[in-house]
Amino acid sequence: MSKIKFKSRALIYPLPAVLVGSMVNGKPNYETLGDCGVLSVSPAVICISSHKSHYTNRGIHAHGNFSVNIPSADMVIPTDYCGLVSGRKTDKSAVFETFFGEQTTIPMIKECPINLACEVIEKLAVYNMEVFVGKVLETYVNQECCTDGKPDTEKINPLIYCMDGRYWALGSVVGKAFHDGKKYG
Ligand SMILES: Cc1cc2nc3c(=O)[nH]c(=O)nc-3n(C[C@H](O)[C@H](O)[C@H](O)COP(=O)(O)O)c2cc1C
Repeated sequence: MSKIKFKSRALIYPLPAVLVGSMVNGKPNYETLGDCGVLSVSPAVICISSHKSHYTNRGIHAHGNFSVNIPSADMVIPTDYCGLVSGRKTDKSAVFETFFGEQTTIPMIKECPINLACEVIEKLAVYNMEVFVGKVLETYVNQECCTDGKPDTEKINPLIYCMDGRYWALGSVVGKAFHDGKKYG
């Protein structure tokens, strides 16, 4: 098997595209991020990496919290829009319908099937990026995206961001986690 060596690239894609929300100057602002990861499943802790110049970061610093919203594959246009324009120049507060959970400073997106309200527990500067580590305080899933009371991946149909600069939808199921490895050998 021959390999092509590339210069250093963080090729850990595909990743779900997420919309990160914060309250800036009294209004919800949403930005699109590919760089969002899970740090701990239980307790639920995630991280996001957002350029220090971004308008959304101002609200995160001001309130010490943010939301992560998972758009579905049919939300390409408004999701991409929030990654093309900055709240510094354009008011993005009406792009989506905002709702609040228990915290009035964490705006979340009604149209997104999954919403996480997070409290910042760590901040890290990585070159020009600000990494916010968020403890998940509240998790919401649209009722119609659940089957037997559990989040249903097919119904959620998350929008996927890939290294080819395109958005994708999920493909088919190819295995069962913590199970199929038992067939090894
Ligand atoms: C698909 C996509 C993925 C993006 N991923 C990131 C990312 O991981 N980190 C980041 O800092 N900016 C990312 N951006 C760029 C921001 O979304 C963009 O700069 C946005 O305008 C910032 O908005 P704000 O200034 O209102 O916060 C991404 C944009 C798109 C379209």
